[in-house]
Amino acid sequence: MGVDVDLIEEARKCAPGAAIELPTVLGIETSCDDTGIAIVRSFQAEDAQGGMVGSVCSEFLASQFDLHAAYGGVVPRLASRAHEVNVPIGIQHIREHSGLPIGLSDIDAVAVTAGPGLAVCLRHGYRAAVKLATELGKPLIKVNHLEGHILAARMNDPSLKYPFLVLLVSGGHTMLVLAHGTGLGGYAVLSTTLDDSMGEAFDKVARMVRVGMHCLASDGLNADDAALDPKASGARIQRTLTLAGASRPGGGHDLAAVVEQSHGVPVGKRRDASETVPGHLGAALETLARQGDASVAPLPVPLRGGASKHHNRRAFSFAGLKSAVMRLCEQPDVDVKDRSVASCIAASFQHSAFEHVKDQLEFGIADARTLIAERHGDAAALLAVVVCGGVAANTSLRAMLNERCSMHGLRLVVPPPRLCTDNGVMIAWAGAEKLASTISDAALADANWDADFSPRWPVGERQPIYLPRVRPGRAATTRA
Ligand code: KG4
Ligand code: ZN
Repeated sequence: MGVDVDLIEEARKCAPGAAIELPTVLGIETSCDDTGIAIVRSFQAEDAQGGMVGSVCSEFLASQFDLHAAYGGVVPRLASRAHEVNVPIGIQHIREHSGLPIGLSDIDAVAVTAGPGLAVCLRHGYRAAVKLATELGKPLIKVNHLEGHILAARMNDPSLKYPFLVLLVSGGHTMLVLAHGTGLGGYAVLSTTLDDSMGEAFDKVARMVRVGMHCLASDGLNADDAALDPKASGARIQRTLTLAGASRPGGGHDLAAVVEQSHGVPVGKRRDASETVPGHLGAALETLARQGDASVAPLPVPLRGGASKHHNRRAFSFAGLKSAVMRLCEQPDVDVKDRSVASCIAASFQHSAFEHVKDQLEFGIADARTLIAERHGDAAALLAVVVCGGVAANTSLRAMLNERCSMHGLRLVVPPPRLCTDNGVMIAWAGAEKLASTISDAALADANWDADFSPRWPVGERQPIYLPRVRPGRAATTRA
């Protein structure tokens, strides 16, 4: 595991050459608990703005909600095994349903998430991408997962021009970023979280209020997830691991059993199925919050406390709010098994979390305008705010941000909910943008060819080389 010299050599042979104007790209995403593979074709937009737009030719998405739900969080070993099973199934599916006239040889490049993410997961996507690029004789483009989330907003909106402000809210990250352009040096991080990410806080609070007891399975889905019909087009497979495994003759792998019986770090106690939902916990909490009254159980807004050393700081923080919810749930007269109680706590949590986002957005807009004035000489060049990442699928968050942005004369741009959570489309599109970029050197240079994938890769910076800690007694192929 880790830096694989042979794999780097192999990938180096597939390094992109000249820019391609309107590319068709196959993208692979395996950074956490979703195996996403997709082909995206780019076009010149028909409107006067002349930007590029993308359309999805084919998509495979196998999520692992059902697999991890029982443990109260993503179990890396389970996720890794699931990608190992699902990546070949996904590639086979895409081969058979490419949506392209002459199949996979019609693509211009293979793009892959090379970080940040879980090393044990990234490696499966990366290996498959190198293999496919070599087989097809096409360039390989390494994509930063965070940049994938950000660029997803441009796929359906060619009028979104740089510079723009980004609020990235996912399960792994919460940050405000100023986007100047694609690739190396293209992004300036304005603020990030001091502790948990917003998605993590949603997930933990969802478990505290026993969201699984109060919600239907479909409540964990976001608006347009529910519309995904696996039979409607050969291009899509429903979001479950079990389905992906079972769709193959002899499929249906009991991965949890395999991992639990293997040696290594214990995966933890299995939870009661009523404590969780087979879908995004954040989406289920949003549904529950809609039925509650936030004023019944008021909670503090992070970083607003006058005496705190972090008062008015340019940063996100959700750990204090999460602890406040925990203390509330532990009070003897609070019974979260009562749906109305749970929904009021959910509504109150969501309200405080979004008030905090509102505060930080104000700082972000002011800081972005200052930076833009310094760099471009005109603060008015900031025209839009993008919100992306899993939590951006939240309808109340979108409504709040829309209102704030119009107050500042800014346009809010949000990808459709299905492109907010992890998927292969955003990686394929990011690859297409990089390949077509007029600043292609900067766009492509962030793929440091001395590394394969890197669990920690800050957006807009050069990809760091990842040297894994090797457990005694285990050999690894590493580069000194
Ligand atoms: O971007 P994403 O799919 O994965 C990461 O890159 O981390 O984000 C997943 C996160 C999870 O924490 C999930 O609960 C949250 O996004 N999420 C939501 C909603 N849909 C997904 N949080 C709040 N409201 C939603 N509707
Ligand atoms: Zn993500």
